[in-house]
Amino acid sequence: MSLQADRVSLKYGDGDTETFAVRDVSIAIPDRGFYGIMGPSGSGKSSLLYLLSGLKLPSSGEVTYRGRSLSGGGETERTQTRREQFGFVFQQPFLLNYLTAKENILVAANRQDRAFERSVLLLMEELQIAHLAERVPAHLSGGEKQRVIVARSMINRPAIIFADEPTAALDHANGHIVIDLLRRYQDKGTVIVVTHDPTMVAEADRVYQMLDGELVAE
Ligand SMILES: Nc1ncnc2c1ncn2[C@@H]1O[C@H](COP(=O)(O)OP(=O)(O)OP(=O)(O)O)[C@@H](O)[C@H]1O
Ligand SMILES: [Mg+2]
Repeated sequence: MSLQADRVSLKYGDGDTETFAVRDVSIAIPDRGFYGIMGPSGSGKSSLLYLLSGLKLPSSGEVTYRGRSLSGGGETERTQTRREQFGFVFQQPFLLNYLTAKENILVAANRQDRAFERSVLLLMEELQIAHLAERVPAHLSGGEKQRVIVARSMINRPAIIFADEPTAALDHANGHIVIDLLRRYQDKGTVIVVTHDPTMVAEADRVYQMLDGELVAE
């Protein structure tokens, strides 16, 4: 197993305001494949994703990635792991308005050289968005923006892509286009998708269900 959480909890607030967003969750995600996380609003899906990706540290428990403690290591190492190994897609399209689609992808690249610029175009072709390369976000539809964001998440060929409701702002048809792009990545790495829509993860290797901060047994 490449990514593993052992009895992780994430607590917000103290005393009267104390809430457990994630409570004692253990999960082991294999090296390849497409995984879904579902559950009602407030059940802790985003929080679990933040813990697994090292964006947040658990209040207790441990996250390990490739045999090393992600939660126990230093911030520098965690940031490096995130930059080199992980890709992210969030619910709200987040692009820099003054950059073209291609430049928006390139800014996330760990390398910036001519050869890499070519590989951005190749990736855009692969995802069938090459025709959008020179457009600024204001001239892209919601679905097109989200496809650019998916391309950006893949630019460093991450081992794991974390996607938190990547289709929530899209209609069904565009949602499926975005999910298909993510799904096709599963032969290169792991894709973990949080969604409210069961049709988006109908073909997942496994769908985890969360309720009140806990993973519910299937
Ligand atoms: N920064 C915060 N401070 C305090 N409580 C928080 C914070 N972020 C989240 N929570 C609480 O933690 C719980 C889990 O939140 P989380 O965002 O992980 O849920 P979610 O399953 O992703 O919900 P949604 O489907 O609405 O995105 C909720 O009760 C939420 O109110
Ligand atoms: Mg959420």
